[in-house]
Amino acid sequence: MSVSNTATPRGSESGRGVAPDTVRYNREVPGLDEPVFDVSGLSIHYGSNKAVRDVNMKVGPRQITAMIGPSGCGKSTVLRTFNRMNDLIPEARVEGSVTYHGEDLYDPAVDPIEVRRRIGMVFQKPNPFPKSIYDNIAFGPRIMGVRSGLDDVVEESLTKAALWDEVKDKLKESAFALSGGQQQRLCIARAIAVNPEVILMDEPCSALDPIATLKIEDLMYELADEFTIVIVTHNMQQAARVSDRTAFFTAAIDDNGDRFGGLVEYDETATIFSKPSDKRTEDYISGRFG
Ligand SMILES: Nc1ncnc2c1ncn2[C@@H]1O[C@H](COP(=O)(O)OP(=O)(O)OP(=O)(O)O)[C@@H](O)[C@H]1O
Ligand SMILES: [Mg+2]
Repeated sequence: MSVSNTATPRGSESGRGVAPDTVRYNREVPGLDEPVFDVSGLSIHYGSNKAVRDVNMKVGPRQITAMIGPSGCGKSTVLRTFNRMNDLIPEARVEGSVTYHGEDLYDPAVDPIEVRRRIGMVFQKPNPFPKSIYDNIAFGPRIMGVRSGLDDVVEESLTKAALWDEVKDKLKESAFALSGGQQQRLCIARAIAVNPEVILMDEPCSALDPIATLKIEDLMYELADEFTIVIVTHNMQQAARVSDRTAFFTAAIDDNGDRFGGLVEYDETATIFSKPSDKRTEDYISGRFG
């Protein structure tokens, strides 16, 4: 099945001037036979609050999986389980199973630092370190003990993040001198520099203008050839444009009056945006709530 759908097809607003039939929106959506993540019966508690309940989904390799839904439905919470960032929130507790290539990500023997190298994260607000452009990219490799070939790693990472041409003559300047969109691409380059397999992105464009947003979308689209990308977005056009699969989350109230989030529907993006099977999905994507 193609990603082409009633919403704007992938790549068509990319500004690259590429004919629609040469971009990937017409390709087959890659399969889920060998998932990168397999989430089963996942619930996440914050203290006594079971904030997210019973999520089941698989994330496939080298494709873009989007998570959409109204505020507070648990998108960021679920995203953080993919690289154990919830470990850093003292009151957070994860129940159920998340496997990464078939191995339990929450097994006590698993090193969360190594997990976060292989599964990088890019946040809503660009967060470069107060260092030069070069040192931002070299930071992770240096921590890993890389001493030689750093120039190549920096160039390659910035090239993959579509930023090299804009910064190659000012690598020693502060990262803060870059625009917001450039800073976000720098953060993506910094994630790439430690050679991850997966890049998680939590609303990576919400602080950016429309032009910078389209640049990041272009970039995600290119990166999906090599990386597995999971993106949280409030921008449904963005989900429709760039993603292969979309997970729609929403919040509900249980019998005790407690609010919780959960996954309503998960399918190929074309299906979610053209013929969703759940009324709540349809209402959300047509703007009737959220
Ligand atoms: N650090 C935390 N401590 C306690 N509760 C939290 C924490 N983070 C999230 N929650 C709760 O978990 C629920 C889901 O929050 P989450 O941030 O995952 O939602 P979201 O879908 O990402 O929302 P938004 O679209 O506004 O970013 C909410 O009820 C929220 O209050
Ligand atoms: Mg969030």
